[in-house]
Amino acid sequence: MSAVPGPSAGHPPSAPPHAGPPRGRPGGVLQRMDKGRLQHVIAVGSGKGGVGKSSVTALIAAELQRRGQTVGILDADITGPSIPKLFGVTGPLTDAGEGIEPAKTRSGIPVVSSQFMVEDEQAPVIWRGPLVTRLITQFFGGVNWGKLDYLLIDMPPGTSDVPLTVFQTIPIDGMVFVLTPQDLAALIVKKAMNMARDLHVSLLGVVENMSWIVCPHCHETINLFGPGTVARVGAEYGIPILARLPLTPEVSELADAGRVDEFRSPELSALAEGLVRKVDELTKGSATML
Ligand SMILES: Nc1ncnc2c1ncn2[C@@H]1O[C@H](COP(=O)(O)OP(=O)(O)O)[C@@H](O)[C@H]1O
Ligand SMILES: [Mg+2]
Repeated sequence: MSAVPGPSAGHPPSAPPHAGPPRGRPGGVLQRMDKGRLQHVIAVGSGKGGVGKSSVTALIAAELQRRGQTVGILDADITGPSIPKLFGVTGPLTDAGEGIEPAKTRSGIPVVSSQFMVEDEQAPVIWRGPLVTRLITQFFGGVNWGKLDYLLIDMPPGTSDVPLTVFQTIPIDGMVFVLTPQDLAALIVKKAMNMARDLHVSLLGVVENMSWIVCPHCHETINLFGPGTVARVGAEYGIPILARLPLTPEVSELADAGRVDEFRSPELSALAEGLVRKVDELTKGSATML
């Protein structure tokens, strides 16, 4: 059994051991891998950093698991990986010659992340273009994911090379967009939505994160960023708001302690329910393919 080499090892990961053959997509531009035994591959992204993509990915994963679904997380934010920290899970990833064994969270959620490939937690992960492509390919097709109901992809921010690579190589069934109710976030998320749409990825819905906070003293609800733009963005793209999540100090406290999966709330529960419903519609072929 050997540790999977990191970026400093000088040689890139080899081709995935059991990724299915890439399949063509309309237009013949995209070469996505085969889904194998993964039932639903769902990306969670935004375009913008710091809006809660990773937290929402982790929270959804934990909630789906509580509901009896088998779930895995592929941390595709190569330069800013945060999934390991949120669950308090460490590497390294190992490969005994039969594919990469993912790390497991305390509750058994399999996770892969570039964080597991650097020895020093604070060392920057410097991957050049072709290596990123191979790493993403490896993280999807080269990992022993087993049979999963949901593989969630924590997307990198932006609309540059890495998200493009993810869209082009991973057979994503649909994408959830996380945004905070500010115009600037809306502007950036629209770029990401357009990118996903152009690459034939179904837009499942939006999550408005950090929508409000409840004053701990007078218990009044405060809309931190005003009335928000999320409903407008959703309507513009013809997709639903899957949930509005408040800014909850407990989320960041649990995240800092590596126990984000212990968080529960009615809003999170509604989010998981809405997502499952939307994915079911997608499977039945009635979701909006924009
Ligand atoms: N609903 C929330 N309530 C409280 N803190 C949150 C919430 N969502 C995210 N955070 C905090 O905001 C910060 C950024 O979240 P993160 O998930 O890392 O964003 P991103 O992946 O979009 O960069 C983290 O410190 C996280 O704990
Ligand atoms: Mg993140």
